[in-house]
Amino acid sequence: MEKREQLYEGKAKQVYKTDDPQLLIVSYKDDATAFNGLKKGTITGKGVINNQMSNRLMQRLEKGGVPTHYVQELSDRETLVKRVTIVPLEVIVRNIAAGSFSKRYGVEEGTPFAQPTVEYSYKNDDLGDPLLNSDHALALKLATPEELALIRKYALAVNEQLKAFWTSCNVTLVDFKLEFGRLEDGSIVLADEISPDTCRLWDSATGEKLDKDRFRRDMGGVEDAYQEIMRRLTSHNEKE
Ligand code: TMP
Repeated sequence: MEKREQLYEGKAKQVYKTDDPQLLIVSYKDDATAFNGLKKGTITGKGVINNQMSNRLMQRLEKGGVPTHYVQELSDRETLVKRVTIVPLEVIVRNIAAGSFSKRYGVEEGTPFAQPTVEYSYKNDDLGDPLLNSDHALALKLATPEELALIRKYALAVNEQLKAFWTSCNVTLVDFKLEFGRLEDGSIVLADEISPDTCRLWDSATGEKLDKDRFRRDMGGVEDAYQEIMRRLTSHNEKE
């Protein structure tokens, strides 16, 4: 499948058309941003890791009954995906308090929840991706009630499957962000990426951060953390 004209360039990926109107090619960059693009940098090798990790995890989720946009990995950085219209919601699932939850509600980072917490924000950079609830999402006509129910169900299913997978890699899945899209026939699939850019992943034994928080918080060891989390995933897959 050949790359045709560029359709879109985001903060971390480029998206290209192909000869098939229902298929696109995404190309993962090493560019990293945080705080709605205010902080900019490069994480060398990130594009390759995020491409491969996202693809491995989406293939797993497909087998576990969650439909995704994934079609085929084309190269280190490029993947063929189904064309979707993105539902403009960032769907966040949290198992442990961290990040904006800890800040907003004054809860110490690392405090576990009795059950997963699903949270939505409005995917709108001009507004700074504001937090919203499902009634807000309906008022803004971002999704139908049926779509919202399905998105919540899929998000919780993703959490259960990824939590178990990462536990077997000695990694704690703290929280993550998902995006969903609509195929041409209107059906909802998981889209975007699942990577250390979009998840908080802590070493189960030491609590060491193995994700993009090292970049957001200027902690150093960013490239090493991405390589370490990929190594954990790869060695797990080899054991299966
Ligand atoms: P938060 O605690 O900053 O709201 O982040 C929750 C999760 O969502 C965390 O795993 C990082 C991820 N995330 C993104 O993928 N993109 C974003 O723009 C933000 C703010 C968070």
